[in-house]
Amino acid sequence: MKKIWTITGCVALMAVLISCNKTRRSEGRAYMPDMAYSRAYETYSSTENLKEKGINYTSMPVAGTIARGDAAGYTLKNDSTGYAASAANKNPFSADSIDMKEAERLYLINCGICHGAKLDGNGPLWNGGDGPYPAAPRNLITDPITANMSEGTMFHSVTYGRNSMGSYASQLTTKQRWEVVAYIKSKQGTASAAKPAADTATAAMPKK
Ligand code: HEC
Repeated sequence: MKKIWTITGCVALMAVLISCNKTRRSEGRAYMPDMAYSRAYETYSSTENLKEKGINYTSMPVAGTIARGDAAGYTLKNDSTGYAASAANKNPFSADSIDMKEAERLYLINCGICHGAKLDGNGPLWNGGDGPYPAAPRNLITDPITANMSEGTMFHSVTYGRNSMGSYASQLTTKQRWEVVAYIKSKQGTASAAKPAADTATAAMPKK
């Protein structure tokens, strides 16, 4: 009787040891394999196979496409002629349709990092030349170029970008870009009304 238990014990032990083998022979069953293993494919990685199927897809929106709810498209081109012509452009949104609080918020999120919360061209990314950004952002109040710049040209530069500054057309809607420009203009207005104070403020800026 004892023997039977010894043999059963040995068989059971072997069975356990064999089942501990590390090599997996089967993957087991996956319930809903599409969820367990996603069908990975790189979006837009190749438009070649689309072309083979006769689909003409370039991943770029058709020229003149505007986002749903956005204002009508901007027609001036991103070239020197467009830049010059932009000076005559006026803000199509009436002053009372512009929420200055919101404009300030958008400015601080999108522009303040370079142009500074005080619009003095000394945001944290520039930080008097010590910041990580290589090009000096314009002082939007005292730099003669921006002080004398029309709202249309500002809008143009924010829409297409200017030299080392990128375009903000994908981050801000048409109205939001005009709002930010109106915010800069309003700050320029208050600064020129109190010119000496603004000058001393700039001179006192710590040049770290
Ligand atoms: C990453 C840094 C950076 C950010 C963010 C940035 N700018 Fe600029 N901006 C610059 C630099 C640098 C210049 C100077 C470009 C040049 O060399 O003419 C500039 C120039 C300008 C000019 C003058 C353009 C011209 O036609 O000469 C305006 C106006 C301006 N920025 C507005 C804005 C507004 C509004 C925003 C936010 C929507 C913004 N910038 C965000 C770096 C920045």
